[in-house]
Amino acid sequence: MSRFSHEVIEKNSILLLVLSLIAVSIGGIVEIIPTFLIKTTIEDVKGVRPYSPLELAGRNIYIREGCYLCHSQMIRSLRSEVERYGHYSLAAESMYDHPFQWGSKRNGPDLARIGGKYSDEWHRLHMADPRQVVPESVMPGYPYLARTPLDYTHIADDMKALRVTGVPYTDEEVADAKADLEAQVNPDADTTGIAQRYPKAVIRDFDGDPKTITELDALVAYLQMLGTLVDFNAYDSADFSQ
Ligand code: HEC
Repeated sequence: MSRFSHEVIEKNSILLLVLSLIAVSIGGIVEIIPTFLIKTTIEDVKGVRPYSPLELAGRNIYIREGCYLCHSQMIRSLRSEVERYGHYSLAAESMYDHPFQWGSKRNGPDLARIGGKYSDEWHRLHMADPRQVVPESVMPGYPYLARTPLDYTHIADDMKALRVTGVPYTDEEVADAKADLEAQVNPDADTTGIAQRYPKAVIRDFDGDPKTITELDALVAYLQMLGTLVDFNAYDSADFSQ
């Protein structure tokens, strides 16, 4: 554009406004149109399921204690992160998380794939006093979790509330919530139902005290399942480019 015509635009505020709006909307359209053309932004991944009642109770404790203030659950697709923590996080992995726990700060390591990394015994010691297993740790201890019986009177209501946000809990799962929660910490119970409803759920006594279901049982059950649902060997060999 010649110097002259540019001067016309600069001296005419309405023309400048109209042309600016046109320029900005082109940018906007380029960003927005693709989101209408793709079917979903969440990959179709096998294995992701809603939390079992016990895992959900543990997740509630994770949120209550503010663990997300020091820990993220979101592995970025950067080489350093993938080498340290494992496969980068997929949108599908947090599609049933309300609220999501991606976090924005890492005083401690990312926990998106912590499941199965340590034994329950390690978590018990670490939760009671992190310095028992990591001498230089600055993480606070949560010794009262092991002493506090888990209050799960409202677990079915939690599941109903999540259903409103789109988590596909069935009526049967809501009705059996308490029984499923109790069965998950008791390997002697009839666990066929829970194993069917929540595939890959880890069923065992987590806190080393089979007599009481404590808050620590729920929290460790949650930690032990994080990042374990998706089979990444199958995922990486599948083609999700369409
Ligand atoms: C003040 C910050 C802080 C808070 C709050 C905190 N952590 Fe940590 N966490 C850390 C630090 C630092 C480490 C690394 C040292 C260690 O392992 O103790 C860590 C490590 C961990 C690890 C081991 C991770 C690994 O890969 O080795 C787990 C599991 C963990 N934290 C769980 C929790 C849970 C659950 C809560 C909430 C009940 C919590 N943390 C709250 C700072 C924190």
